[in-house]
Amino acid sequence: MQIIKTKLKKKVDNSYKIFIGEGLAKDLAALLKESPIGKKYAIITDSITKKLFGKNILKNFNNKKISAEIFTFNKGEKSKQINTIEKLANEMIAKGFDRKDAIIALGGGVVGDLAGFLASIYMRGIPYIQVPTTLLAMVDSAIGGKTGVDIESGKNLLGTIAQPKAVYIDIDFLKTLPKNQIQNGLAEIIKYAVICDKRFFKYLEKNLEKILNLDKEAILYIIEKSVKIKTKVVEKDETENLTRMKLNYGHTYGHALEKQSNYTLLHGFAVAIGMVLANEIAVKEGYLKSKTAERIRALIKRAGLPTTTIKKPEIKYLSSDKKCYGGQIHFVLPKRIGKVKIHKVKCR
Ligand SMILES: NC(=O)c1ccc[n+]([C@@H]2O[C@H](COP(=O)([O-])OP(=O)(O)OC[C@H]3O[C@@H](n4cnc5c(N)ncnc54)[C@H](O)[C@@H]3O)[C@@H](O)[C@H]2O)c1
Ligand SMILES: [Zn+2]
Repeated sequence: MQIIKTKLKKKVDNSYKIFIGEGLAKDLAALLKESPIGKKYAIITDSITKKLFGKNILKNFNNKKISAEIFTFNKGEKSKQINTIEKLANEMIAKGFDRKDAIIALGGGVVGDLAGFLASIYMRGIPYIQVPTTLLAMVDSAIGGKTGVDIESGKNLLGTIAQPKAVYIDIDFLKTLPKNQIQNGLAEIIKYAVICDKRFFKYLEKNLEKILNLDKEAILYIIEKSVKIKTKVVEKDETENLTRMKLNYGHTYGHALEKQSNYTLLHGFAVAIGMVLANEIAVKEGYLKSKTAERIRALIKRAGLPTTTIKKPEIKYLSSDKKCYGGQIHFVLPKRIGKVKIHKVKCR
């Protein structure tokens, strides 16, 4: 027998910059002209964001003489499936996109997850950038490099971890976003404050009305804070494990509630109820003061997010959730605002 050893150990640097500001999208073409990531750009966007922003961005690219094409699909979670990946890939091939080219993910989390996934597998991988247009995508899905699609067995079950080359967060996009989508993102922002940062939580309490009215300074601040928190957690732990698990606060019940509603409940709305239910456990177990639980609930309520559910999912229904490791569900529970602990419950 012969054994031939391959030597493929390599150090990779997946670092990238996240730009946050106002009016960045207008400058995207100029920014990419200065530091290009590909020869041609496939701007991937859904049916709504194509009309709202895609066409203008394409015009800017044309003006700067940067080669780009728009590729689109129907808005919504239903499109986040492998068929869409194949359709987009076929269209890109037909337009002559190859390994020297790059993808721009222009849209909410659905676009980001799909376009990032496609970039990571198109001709064995091409670079991409994230240009998130929903608050949820700006503070959550565009950061961290998780990509993927849903399959019949569940959400996000096929995917890759592929970091973008850059993220451009332009708060101007939020002007057309419906209020419930702002609240959807706000739930994740409240989550960040509870798991990591009491001062940030106080800021949210003090400035909630400003935030809901899209006050520029407040919005820029909460996005910056949230991005910093998520980036820190991801940096510690690029692939999923216990540190990243913190981010699942509110999500164990949240995912079950989403599923129970047949995905009619927006993710952030489900997470909002999930945080309240997690806090109930934390109070019962003696980790959290009921006064603090009430304070968190009050902020969630003021944000216009739900705090109760008629049908609380039973623990056994949480077991299909990916947070069930070795027969135990790992609940992320707050001990106080800014500090969480993992609490294990048998799930079968
Ligand atoms: N990769 C990750 O780490 C991660 C994290 C969290 C969520 N996600 C995924 O993100 C997805 C949800 O993302 P989402 O909440 O952004 O949903 P979404 O992408 O479906 O966007 C919500 C709706 O808003 C529209 N829209 C987008 N930007 C707009 C704008 N500026 N103005 C008006 N309308 C606009 C979209 O067309 C869509 O109809 C889910 O699939 C979820 O699994 C991924
Ligand atoms: Zn979430």
